[in-house]
Amino acid sequence: MNTSLSIVIFGASGDLTARKLIPSLYRLHRKGRLPEEARIVGVARSPFSDDAYREKLRGALREFQPKDYDAAVWESFARRLFYVAGDATTEGGLDHLKAWLGQHEGTSGGRRLYYLSVAPELYPKIAAGLGREGMSQENGGWRRIIIEKPFGHDLASARALNRTLAANFDESQVYRIDHYLGKDTVQNVLVFRFANTLFEPVWNHNFIDHVQITVTESVSVGSRGDYYDHSGVLRDMFQNHLLQVLTMVAMEAPARFTADQLRNEKVKVLDAVTVHDADSACGQVVTGQYAGYHKEKGVRPDSKTPTFAAIKVGVNNWRWQGVPFYLRSGKALGNRLSEVVIQFLCPPHLMFPLPPGQILQCNRLAICIQPDEGIHVNFQTKVPDGGMLLKPADLEFHYAKAYPDRPIPEAYERLLLDAMNGEAHLFMRSDEIERAWEIMDPLIAATERPDAPQPQEYAAGSSGPKCADEFLARGGRAWLSLCQH
Ligand code: BG6
Repeated sequence: MNTSLSIVIFGASGDLTARKLIPSLYRLHRKGRLPEEARIVGVARSPFSDDAYREKLRGALREFQPKDYDAAVWESFARRLFYVAGDATTEGGLDHLKAWLGQHEGTSGGRRLYYLSVAPELYPKIAAGLGREGMSQENGGWRRIIIEKPFGHDLASARALNRTLAANFDESQVYRIDHYLGKDTVQNVLVFRFANTLFEPVWNHNFIDHVQITVTESVSVGSRGDYYDHSGVLRDMFQNHLLQVLTMVAMEAPARFTADQLRNEKVKVLDAVTVHDADSACGQVVTGQYAGYHKEKGVRPDSKTPTFAAIKVGVNNWRWQGVPFYLRSGKALGNRLSEVVIQFLCPPHLMFPLPPGQILQCNRLAICIQPDEGIHVNFQTKVPDGGMLLKPADLEFHYAKAYPDRPIPEAYERLLLDAMNGEAHLFMRSDEIERAWEIMDPLIAATERPDAPQPQEYAAGSSGPKCADEFLARGGRAWLSLCQH
């Protein structure tokens, strides 16, 4: 018989727990993928009975994921849910949890997944508390800890956090989450590249002009102004999600699909990325802020925090030398769209005369991460009955059409299951996180120094600040999108 499995969520009454973690666990339960012996125990300071906690989460599921809610499924899922009050950051604050675990695990010991879904300043305190109380020791069953983002505020704080984790857990027990890696379409980048022979031979500087990675959001900072205003888009989106997508696009194929081989290759990409000094960083980044940001709750009235940024990244290795990667992301924009565009080089010689003023649109390939997940390949066609008139057309693959009865799941479903199964492929290693901060720190510093230009204002619902277009125009390029029509 399997020993018990406890999923301990610190930050039980938080937003992430209600919006993402519990709905994902609920869906895993509904799909029959949550191990039978798994129990979920929420830990937070406020007192709640198990039943009151269950009702609170039921309400959240109905509010945030109404289509998923099914009363009977919820009833069976709720039997796995428990609540323990405790302040994990204080002396003795883990006593109730320890007692609860002792009572439910029996004498054979149990397996435990600790999920830190709390304010980032509490990560080291909780990790140290678990270490101090002997709760990270694998006596009887494994102990794993999932750390949510943001993992540090800069390189120094990320290193300090890694040190605290290393003092209390073995690296193999630590699962640093980046939910972008849990997205099927991000994992599909590897399948697309390494399970096909068609694309990989041209996936390099001999055939590619540049790469664009775009993650735009239509939502504003909403109720997260307080956190966001001290973070900004470069920390919130670039250090993690955008750089992670970049590693998947740029990495070499590992020989085997193991967590360490995969992460070694990702680290090699980050190692090849130019780390700028304070001066050279300035020319590699532009920022914007949406109009009305200052009025958001929790935002400083004179805030210079960027809600939009675009950066240029160089990957200095044989494959990518001279190919710029342009990354952009922002909030309160016209569209929610995550997309990678590969712009291929133009044919070395074009024998077809183009009408005056027409420029050849050279091949493009787009990986549509969300919302209309898929792949588009753009190429030239001859217009029928039109002399030698050329026109670009798309070959399109849409997940929704190809797999109508297999909707793309929430990223957290996969990640939670992987952590329970000890699969660390889609989690970041300490060196990966630190290197990502090393890359971002000078770029962030360039936007925060006293003489840095004010982020350029852009209208909410627009395509972003003009400076982002000018930034690309300087290299003779423009932002592209194939995923939205
Ligand atoms: C989070 C950021 O990591 O990712 C948020 O903190 C952002 O600011 C979110 O909204 C975007 O995730 P997704 O999956 O909706 O693209």
